[in-house]
Amino acid sequence: MKKFFSVEDVSDVHNLIKDALSLKKDPYDFQHIGKNKTIGLVFFNPSLRTRISCQKAAFNLGCHTWVLDIHRDSWKIEMNDGSVMNITQEHLKEAISVMSIYCDILAVRTFPNLSDKNYDYQEIIFNKILNYSRVPVVNMESATLHPLQSLADVMTIAEYTSFFRKKCKVVLSWAPHVKSLPHSVANSFSQWVSKIEQIDFTITCPEKYDLYKKFSNKAYTTHNQNEAFINADFIYAKNWSSYLNYGKILCKNSDWMITEKKMKLTNKAKFMHCLPVRRNIVVEDTVLDSNSSIVLQQAENRIYASQIIFLRMLQSLS
Ligand code: CP
Repeated sequence: MKKFFSVEDVSDVHNLIKDALSLKKDPYDFQHIGKNKTIGLVFFNPSLRTRISCQKAAFNLGCHTWVLDIHRDSWKIEMNDGSVMNITQEHLKEAISVMSIYCDILAVRTFPNLSDKNYDYQEIIFNKILNYSRVPVVNMESATLHPLQSLADVMTIAEYTSFFRKKCKVVLSWAPHVKSLPHSVANSFSQWVSKIEQIDFTITCPEKYDLYKKFSNKAYTTHNQNEAFINADFIYAKNWSSYLNYGKILCKNSDWMITEKKMKLTNKAKFMHCLPVRRNIVVEDTVLDSNSSIVLQQAENRIYASQIIFLRMLQSLS
């Protein structure tokens, strides 16, 4: 594996999930593979889970890591080509090229601007990074996708369904938020879930919040949250800003919050969220703190999702 940008870089999703869950059972089986190898982790946006789970995954494989938080630790980076750099000190071109000399795998978190849809959805920044890097690149969340999160999410669903032994209904539900948030988790989750035929997938969101069809076209989309919840086995809550009126907050209706009452409409569904989550805005405490909440299992699986991707890349280096 030379690049991990999206699910499209994976030839067999079921096999990847199976191998990731095997690593969870025996995390140190491939310690020899990372000997004398370095993974660089570069963050243009903050992180808790991605940063630490990737470090833990690298440790499990015997790799060294370095981490750079661009806004805190580095020079101000210029993203645009042809700029007269009066303000910014270093161009992305030199920064990525140099960092890629200092590692064997480069993992990067970028960001959307949420104002220019074409710029974000063409993944201009991530594509530049792929172009400038001399080593394989892992997407730790880009402008439009968050594949490591989604791999951990489908691993979690696999664990709760005895590896998709029977059909299950998965609902991705929009939930309110105070800030304008990216589409990356929702897009990526839709993309990955759509690769698993045992999953009956529904998206529910307010009007004008429909996701980009390229990622969500295999889902049944409804603007009626209660209808969506009926017979659901998994409720995945997430806020995203509007795709149609790009980056805008069009709905602040707290009726969309995930509540205990709404969870009663489901088939005793498990509650999922990628975290961080705003309590009593996105989801009621009583749901998040209940036995049906599997958010910590999702967070734990972030380790093994990263680990299987790093492992496949390290294997392709040797
Ligand atoms: N879910 C997730 O990516 O969390 P962080 O932003 O903390 O990495």
